[in-house]
Amino acid sequence: MTTHIPFPEKGLDEAAIWQAMDCAKEGDVDWRGGRLPGFYVHFANDDVDRVGKVAFQKFQATNALGLGAFPSIKKFESEVVEWALSLFRAKGGAASITSGGTESIFIAMKTAREWAKANRPNVLNPRVVISHTAHPAFDKAAKYLELEVVRIAPRADFKTDIDALEGALDDQTIMIAGSAPQFTMGVFDQIEELAAIAESRNIWFHTDACVGGFLSPFAEQNGHPIPAWDFRVMGVKSISADLHKYGFAPKGASIVAFADAGFQKFQVFDFNNWSRGRYVTSTFAGTRSGANIAAAWAVMRFLGNEGYRKIAEQIWQIREQLLREIPAIEDLFVYGEPELTVMSYGSKTLDVGDIAAGLAAKGWYTVAPSLNPPAINLGILSLAFGEVSDVYLNDLRDVVSQLKTGENRFDRSLIGSYGTR
Ligand SMILES: Cc1ncc(COP(=O)(O)O)c(C=O)c1O
Repeated sequence: MTTHIPFPEKGLDEAAIWQAMDCAKEGDVDWRGGRLPGFYVHFANDDVDRVGKVAFQKFQATNALGLGAFPSIKKFESEVVEWALSLFRAKGGAASITSGGTESIFIAMKTAREWAKANRPNVLNPRVVISHTAHPAFDKAAKYLELEVVRIAPRADFKTDIDALEGALDDQTIMIAGSAPQFTMGVFDQIEELAAIAESRNIWFHTDACVGGFLSPFAEQNGHPIPAWDFRVMGVKSISADLHKYGFAPKGASIVAFADAGFQKFQVFDFNNWSRGRYVTSTFAGTRSGANIAAAWAVMRFLGNEGYRKIAEQIWQIREQLLREIPAIEDLFVYGEPELTVMSYGSKTLDVGDIAAGLAAKGWYTVAPSLNPPAINLGILSLAFGEVSDVYLNDLRDVVSQLKTGENRFDRSLIGSYGTR
């Protein structure tokens, strides 16, 4: 029988709690020092971080399940939703704040499924067709929702293979989705074409802008060419966009947005067979942290359009540096044509596992490379990385030259995993 650590009988005083927590934190990656390129932590600057933290603290006891009790949270949510819909160029529409990209995708798929039940009554085995590059959240949600997912191999440039996608559609297909951009190679799927195909066949179309949703509008305003992805595209019925990514809100906040407020009837869970009475929620969670919503509001209001544009430009400049300097390193190349600020690089001569191990040995928290094709993922999630991108590039050059001269083999056990295992 397994024995577990017994629950402590007596509480600790606050000072001892902080000491224990600071001690536990010592092994954490130095994300503020920018040592975590491409994963887990989005960070704009210390001011934005502080605003999010203080707002979170102020509203930490609130519960967004009870918006009647907390008109403050109701106001914050409805303003964040309004701002998001206006940034995504919705004419009308509706949106909710969820706990993250996975939940936003789940709610979009649940809504699409219920919409199909009402509009495509002949569908008995609903299917979703996506490119192989789409995030696993689609399959995770499909498992819960009993939808079948068909993943099709992308084109050589990592965009959706439209012919293959059309070949995979059948009379049971209720949803098509595209990424804007996809996480690994950073390219956008052809949202305009895909949404038009969906529209012509009465299929729901979803844009997964979890990564780009709160960066693309500002990069576009700054004059950078951003492929079409938002509600300006005919046929886009829903969008997922993460506040806790490039919205720079504390983690636990995302938007699921719909082109038409009428879709909300398919979104909600409305239950009327409980001793307590009717129970209606718009997201997966019952109790929702009001603190996340308040903190997202505070960060957005603090930065405003002007602040986001400035940050978007700073991030863009780091992207330009990486896209210039990585392919200039002999033996390395960048995959495809990254269209925002996420990219991946590979090598024709070196094993990317060795490169990742070399970077890890130099103190860069390096997540296991992508398998197919073999690649090191790099995203400018954090401006803290911008403070040390020169050091990263020098270390990368150094690792490559050490591997080429056979001078060094690095310890692969230092490479981290992606996900909870
Ligand atoms: C393209 C894309 N979609 C969805 C998600 C899921 O977001 P989350 O981890 O917030 O659930 C991610 C996460 O990285 C992503 O990159």
